[in-house]
Amino acid sequence: QGGIGILALGIYTPPKVMTNQDFEAIMDTSDEWIVSRTGIKERRISSDDEFTSTLAFQAVEDLVRRHGREALQEADLVIVATNTPDALFPATAALVQARFGLKAGAYDLLAGCPGWGYALAQAYAMVQSGLARKVLAIGAEALSKITDWNDRSTAVLFGDGAGAAVVGRVPPGYGFKSFVLGADGDGAKELSMACVAPRLPDGTALAKRAYMNGREVFKFAVRVMNTATLEAIEKAGLTPADIEVFIPHQANLRIIDAARERLGLPWERVVVNVDRYGNTSTASMPIALQEALDAGRIQDGDHILFVTFGAGLTWAASVLTW
Ligand code: ACO
Repeated sequence: QGGIGILALGIYTPPKVMTNQDFEAIMDTSDEWIVSRTGIKERRISSDDEFTSTLAFQAVEDLVRRHGREALQEADLVIVATNTPDALFPATAALVQARFGLKAGAYDLLAGCPGWGYALAQAYAMVQSGLARKVLAIGAEALSKITDWNDRSTAVLFGDGAGAAVVGRVPPGYGFKSFVLGADGDGAKELSMACVAPRLPDGTALAKRAYMNGREVFKFAVRVMNTATLEAIEKAGLTPADIEVFIPHQANLRIIDAARERLGLPWERVVVNVDRYGNTSTASMPIALQEALDAGRIQDGDHILFVTFGAGLTWAASVLTW
């Protein structure tokens, strides 16, 4: 009966580049500080009239350019994982559905940076159950629109971008082998932004712009990157040595390095582009996957390990045979 995997992929990053030097000009920071703490050298920033829907449209256009319009046929569901939807409602996914004239259900998925990891699991389950033949699973973010440009400890970290994947049936032996989804809402206050309520249930006030306790999130990230990857590998019936391609969430090079080291993987197996895009949240893994494919780094039958962490706090990991 075969497996369920990624049939087609496309990405988009806005053309406007913002370098660390550009930050030096507007706040008290330095290229040396940003590179040594995060590995980030530059990131992409959407223009004033580009929003998450626009970025998502472009990623799907790229998918169509690469794989043909027929790649979208039988897509019965559109999921847009994002922390920066154009509007609270309608769902940004409905805007994508309309733009491409799909006969599909559509909803947004809000799970912090792991949103696309959660969307892949949902897509898998929808196809597996027969509720959808294919699912268009998008991660898209206009994070620069919610960044606190007065907070140097967060402003330098984020970037804008989008990735779109069609999930569906693949031949036997290929496809997703495991998923791990997790959350620890006790860490809610470490990474937050207000929407409707002015405060969290525990009374912590919510800011109108993205707030992050970097040090706490860092510790959490190193911990779950380790536990979630090992769990996903074990569930897939594999060992770390079987992982040919590791695609971690691109948030911080030191966090990626810690995860890499714990798994005992050489750098050649790790996909890194955080230096060029910063943290694009839900878009980070699909962009890294497409770039690894374009660079010829993924061979038929390779085991790809995904892992991501973020606001919630939440995490997601999975193993995919390509
Ligand atoms: N330039 C210069 N100095 C800075 C900057 C900056 N851009 N930002 C902070 N500093 C200062 C701080 O004010 C602090 O100064 P102080 O000691 O005088 O108070 C000093 O640098 C050290 O700050 P730390 O927070 O200890 O620096 P740290 O080494 O922890 O690095 C960082 C901070 C990069 C934010 C790190 O904690 C981190 O990467 N955390 C995880 C972030 C992350 O990956 N988030 C993803 C979340 S996913 C999602 O859902 C969005």
